[in-house]
Amino acid sequence: MAILVTGGAGYIGSHTVLALLQRGDDVVVLDNLSNASQESIRRVEKLAGKSAVFVEGDVLDRACLRDLFAAHQIDAVIHFAALKAVGESTRKPLEYYENNVSGTVVLLEEMRAANVWNFIFSSSATVYGEHAPVPYVETTQIGGTTSPYGTSKLMIEWVLRDFAKAEPQFNTIALRYFNPVGAHESGEIGEDPSGIPNNLLPYIAQVAIGRLPQLGVFGGDYPTPDGTCQRDYIHVMDLAEGHLKALDHLAKNTGYTAYNLGAGKGYSVLEMIKAFEKASGKTIPFEIKPRRAGDLAAFWADASLADRELDWRVSRGIDEMMRDTWNWQSKNPNGFN
Ligand code: NAD
Ligand code: UFG
Repeated sequence: MAILVTGGAGYIGSHTVLALLQRGDDVVVLDNLSNASQESIRRVEKLAGKSAVFVEGDVLDRACLRDLFAAHQIDAVIHFAALKAVGESTRKPLEYYENNVSGTVVLLEEMRAANVWNFIFSSSATVYGEHAPVPYVETTQIGGTTSPYGTSKLMIEWVLRDFAKAEPQFNTIALRYFNPVGAHESGEIGEDPSGIPNNLLPYIAQVAIGRLPQLGVFGGDYPTPDGTCQRDYIHVMDLAEGHLKALDHLAKNTGYTAYNLGAGKGYSVLEMIKAFEKASGKTIPFEIKPRRAGDLAAFWADASLADRELDWRVSRGIDEMMRDTWNWQSKNPNGFN
């Protein structure tokens, strides 16, 4: 199979490209390198002992997509390419809707023109919004998102649902990721955010390596056992493997279906700090700060649908998440640079 992976040079994309190459698929990566380095793909190729085709280009660029689909016989598309910073999206909503929503529509139009009908989309737990009961189940109505980023994911899911209704040959799976963390166990690839990290684990890892002085814990007065927010953290390699299972499932003519990809268990911020300290032997200085706007107190996945229908479940726990995060960060103190 030849798979087009948009955003394949990024964090989750690069780990998925590795898993695809290792199981023998041919891969074409399309990435505009707005939030990634091509070094990630070079390292993936080295680990896999096999090359991917790399195209530097944008999903909004029709001519680029046309050339790509003309040059390669693509069986399925995995669409990671997006802007993903929640806070930034409130300041730049148009950029987020243009890149994420319009980018997906252009990609779907060019897929239709090229007769490519299998599509996997990187959705997010954020589509459940602020009123959904925990654990999140796919039967809960989505909506009530709290940022333009979240709304862009919600809008794309609606686009996919409607397109699948109109085009019976279109098979699509939206994978709703919970909180991806960790790195490939080799420590050769991992998460390399530009600037100050927004997300918890990269922030902790950069404190541990000495790039940042201390962690601010956003809120200590939530209605949770220790007062800090709980999230469902999932190892990025478990997440990558979920895409392979979803690809297999697309062959069964799925229409539009959404699956939660999470571990089904919540950890608090303080539990995450402790687990990282145990894995790394480093002390993480932290201070409780005011709540961050838009954060929900606690959510985790009911991932039983993916278990039943995709034959997918996580196999790595919090110890592996922390070990692999620290392995990547300590081997690459400055990321891919
Ligand atoms: P990332 O920023 O590391 O990867 C996204 C990649 O897409 C980058 O390499 C970037 O250069 C590329 N890109 C962005 N816009 C593009 C465009 N218009 N054309 C071509 N390439 C473009 O992010 P990630 O963490 O790997 O996330 C991958 C996907 O998963 C995103 O869609 C994100 O919204 C979604 N997601 C991420 C998380 C998370 O916490 N990391 C959680 C839920 C969902
Ligand atoms: N946190 C801190 N300090 C930090 C960073 C984060 O205390 O410096 C806390 C947050 O308040 C939150 C928890 O750590 O309670 C996790 O925060 P992240 O920013 O790592 O993750 P979020 O749950 O906010 O968001 C992530 C992705 C989004 C996605 C969402 C739901 O970044 O893309 O999960 O899937 F939409």
